[in-house]
Amino acid sequence: MILTNYRVPGSGRILITGGAGFIGWNLVKALRDRGEEVLAVDDLSASPWPERPAGIELRDVGSLSALELHDIRAVVHLACRKVVPTSFIDCEQMVSNVRIDRHLVGLLAEIRPRITILASSCEVYGDQRGRLGEAAPLRPRSPYAVGKVAMELLADVYRSLMPSPICVARLFNTYGPGEGLDAVIPRFVDEAMRLGQVVVEGSGEQRRDFSYVDDVVDALIGLLAAPFAPQVVNIGSGASISINELATRVAKAVGGVRILHGRARPNEIAEFVADTRLLHSVLPAWRPATGIDAGLRRCIDWQRAFTAGLAPSNEGRAA
Ligand SMILES: NC(=O)c1ccc[n+]([C@@H]2O[C@H](COP(=O)([O-])OP(=O)(O)OC[C@H]3O[C@@H](n4cnc5c(N)ncnc54)[C@H](O)[C@@H]3O)[C@@H](O)[C@H]2O)c1
Repeated sequence: MILTNYRVPGSGRILITGGAGFIGWNLVKALRDRGEEVLAVDDLSASPWPERPAGIELRDVGSLSALELHDIRAVVHLACRKVVPTSFIDCEQMVSNVRIDRHLVGLLAEIRPRITILASSCEVYGDQRGRLGEAAPLRPRSPYAVGKVAMELLADVYRSLMPSPICVARLFNTYGPGEGLDAVIPRFVDEAMRLGQVVVEGSGEQRRDFSYVDDVVDALIGLLAAPFAPQVVNIGSGASISINELATRVAKAVGGVRILHGRARPNEIAEFVADTRLLHSVLPAWRPATGIDAGLRRCIDWQRAFTAGLAPSNEGRAA
């Protein structure tokens, strides 16, 4: 459910990188529903859908040229290889992320869109206590997060070379139907329904700030539409729950599910919770419309339809 109806001013296409990703495809659909012409590119290296969603161009962000983007009025850069634990094992993951960030940000000075949003992550804050405001120091604790910090610094470099704003959106945990199994909520739902158990990594006392994907998409479109976009802004719900609590809610909603504990992740962060005051001041009409229980229910219903083969092919999870 979307509560607002933001309109992106101006004419020309909107470029979405990572358009076949979990957030990207939801954003592409929401913009098309508003009548926007979208250029959505994705190399499908990490798309959660088994089939290429309609109208997605199969492209590596690193192959885009300024010439073909001359009519782009806004950019949302979501393309990324984003799995935090594998970034410790696979050196190429961080390098390829920074490579495409550098390429995309370099193009901006030439194509001069009205606004650009770069998707960063709460992971840039690392392990700090309490609510995280945008001015908090950056203390990345994984190669993935180091890559996001590099992207944010590249934005600082290129801001001075172009008149239009670059807004870094630090996303906290985003979830919803169809998300890849690398994320905790789809993994819990899948394990609960298939195996009758969920495995919590570590103590489960770690806390995360979860937002339903429609709310995040709404905030991203709001930022594209806003008369003033901040250089850096958090997108989160402003509340955190523990992973134990999340496991209990999934177990209760599915029924008859055992909760087990497995090994902790390297450099596990105790808590991510967003200070959302800046987001609310830029987008006064925005608020998270879907609470965690309603969101979990939708994920469980979707998983049931997916298991029964009833989810549309571009709304299903890749094997
Ligand atoms: N989902 C979350 O909870 C969350 C939280 C914080 C930040 N983010 C950020 O939001 C963005 C989107 O996340 P998501 O959950 O939709 O991830 P996702 O993995 O579902 O989507 C990312 C998409 O980028 C594509 N991609 C990767 N490298 C590419 C390249 N070189 N060229 C073209 N496409 C490429 C992948 O194929 C994939 O479809 C990412 O930048 C991620 O770091 C997400």
